[in-house]
Amino acid sequence: MTTLGIIGAGNIGSQIARKAVQLGYDVVISNSRGPETLAGLVEELGPRARAATAREAAGAAEFAVVTVPLKSYLDIPAEPLAGKVVIDTNNYYWERDGHIPALDNGETTVSGLLQEHLKDSKVAKGFNHIQSAHITTDGTAAGTDNRRALATASDHADAAELVTRLYDEFGFDTVNIGQLSESWRVERDRPAYVVRQNAAELAANLAKAPRVI
Ligand SMILES: NC(=O)c1ccc[n+]([C@@H]2O[C@H](COP(=O)([O-])OP(=O)(O)OC[C@H]3O[C@@H](n4cnc5c(N)ncnc54)[C@H](OP(=O)(O)O)[C@@H]3O)[C@@H](O)[C@H]2O)c1
Repeated sequence: MTTLGIIGAGNIGSQIARKAVQLGYDVVISNSRGPETLAGLVEELGPRARAATAREAAGAAEFAVVTVPLKSYLDIPAEPLAGKVVIDTNNYYWERDGHIPALDNGETTVSGLLQEHLKDSKVAKGFNHIQSAHITTDGTAAGTDNRRALATASDHADAAELVTRLYDEFGFDTVNIGQLSESWRVERDRPAYVVRQNAAELAANLAKAPRVI
């Protein structure tokens, strides 16, 4: 069994955990307040899941998901994630996260910041542009007509491949944007953001995204 470490147990973290245990992954999930505060979620998730600290979840992970408010990204433990694929669901809401000039000015990307922090990990963008509730409801079998598609991006080909496989298991097609430096195309308020779209529609929306909003 593959162990998925999840850092952040809110809307997105809990939904990814639900789908992952359904698919047979072992899940170690964490938040900022401590494992004891996740007892209810872990009970719901069943025997494939356990709660831990963020550091423990990172250490146990064969691959990880980081899904915290962006303002907390520097708290993510780098050393236990070294060498691992880390899927970044984060988005930049300056109203919540405070202003980050390099993002306001279009000089970097949300996932680029996490990759810079986790310099020995392989960061891939994923699940940032789907409403949490739809992670467990919108997936369909491969080959379904008009299947929903999600985008990824990474500087590491094997990380993008892992996300592609995971998306497929979750019930989604993938459009690979390319390098993290291009991942702004699927960030907040762009045409592809939180819209139900198939692969062709997603590719078209990515292509017409403006760099700075
Ligand atoms: N909600 C959506 O539909 C959606 C969709 C796509 C992407 N996103 C993005 O995905 C990220 C997560 O969104 P969300 O809606 O799931 O947020 P959320 O419901 O507010 O949950 C955030 C989680 O992160 C944990 N956390 C905060 N600081 C942490 C730290 N330093 N170490 C470990 N865990 C920490 C929180 O733990 P505590 O509760 O213990 O503080 C909480 O479990 C955000 O960047 C968001 O913009 C959200």
